Amino acid sequence: MSVILTRGRVPRTPHSEYYSEPGVLALEEIHSSAGFSGDWSRKYHYRQYPTRQIRDPHKLPLDIRPQPPAPMALQPWHLRTARLKPHGDVVSGRVPLVYGTTTFVCAARFERSCPADRFFRNGDGHELWFVQEGRGLLASEYGVLPFRPGQYVVVPKGTTYRVELESEDCWLLMIESRFPIGFAPRYLNRSGQAHLTAPVVETEVDPPEFRPPRDEEGEFRVWTKHGGGFVTEMFLGHHPFDLIGWEGALYPYAFHADDHHPLARQIHTSPPTRQTFESGAAPHAGFAVCTFKGQIEGWHPRDVPAPYAHNNADSDELTFFSNTGYGARKGLVEPGSLTFHPGSLPHSPHGTAAKRSLEERGKLSDYLAVMLDVFYEPLSVAKQALPIAEKDYPTGWNRDTQGLAID
Ligand SMILES: [Fe+2]
Repeated sequence: MSVILTRGRVPRTPHSEYYSEPGVLALEEIHSSAGFSGDWSRKYHYRQYPTRQIRDPHKLPLDIRPQPPAPMALQPWHLRTARLKPHGDVVSGRVPLVYGTTTFVCAARFERSCPADRFFRNGDGHELWFVQEGRGLLASEYGVLPFRPGQYVVVPKGTTYRVELESEDCWLLMIESRFPIGFAPRYLNRSGQAHLTAPVVETEVDPPEFRPPRDEEGEFRVWTKHGGGFVTEMFLGHHPFDLIGWEGALYPYAFHADDHHPLARQIHTSPPTRQTFESGAAPHAGFAVCTFKGQIEGWHPRDVPAPYAHNNADSDELTFFSNTGYGARKGLVEPGSLTFHPGSLPHSPHGTAAKRSLEERGKLSDYLAVMLDVFYEPLSVAKQALPIAEKDYPTGWNRDTQGLAID
């Protein structure tokens, strides 16, 4: 994140003698990304390093790795995440859907808060959530971050957190990357400010609210995900939220889709103008995340608001439909639908969508969808997603979805 924050108390000079209280030396930890070269924060623990394990760690039976299905035909997919039953918590409730070598997508529909003495740390990837339903708190060493529907939540790899639900259950799309996730770098100037032409403003994010340090002894469990979905339980003798302060650019934050300010064009515009986040070296590796939200559709007198058929041979494309307003898939998707169009296949609007879209010319649309374009990384559907796949989707372009004849 380009905004550097200071919370609590930190010494003016990094790595210098500093006291939590008279006689108690504060212990510094650097949380960094991209080795020592990416965004980082310095954290000051009250009295103990975060490395003191009081019992041997053990691997849990929990396995949230995506499972490869039997080899199958190349095809487009429609996965209906609304049909997953809420279960478990923010860790055990994850259902892998689509995966590659650096990108992993799952849906988390869960119904429980994490126990008060148990924390989670993703050692595999940086997480980007889109909150479809539910409210709660993401509590981490950085503070407490409330989340609500329509928000993205960015959780850097290595953050120690737990989730407390405020609603009965919760429904998240969860995108995980080996690489850091942030606003598209092309939106930011050399100081990290968003350009005045960008659809995002770097300060329009919600950072965590800092809380006083928990200088507590006891037994605190940290579940760490590793190896693509194994989980190891570690035992610390002190509360992990024991910071007297922190400063830096690496921390969890929320960003609401309402704060992505769409850019309109007189004729149809391609997805990169809708981009919000980026990971890796997009568009040469990693991914772009675009926010498809209501905007003025093209107002050229002959504009066709529906997109063209496209064959993005170098990117696999996923779209999560938060609502059903997107014209090109109307009548086919439901809230929480996730379409997956492999790069090796062209895709287009369904049925009569192009003709119907002429009515939308110059009007304000009301759709909300999150699109993930993954570059030069073939994705696969996980075996766990097969029960929610629409069987007839590959031939769906051959059918009418709105009661109109296909020309
Ligand atoms: Fe597409």
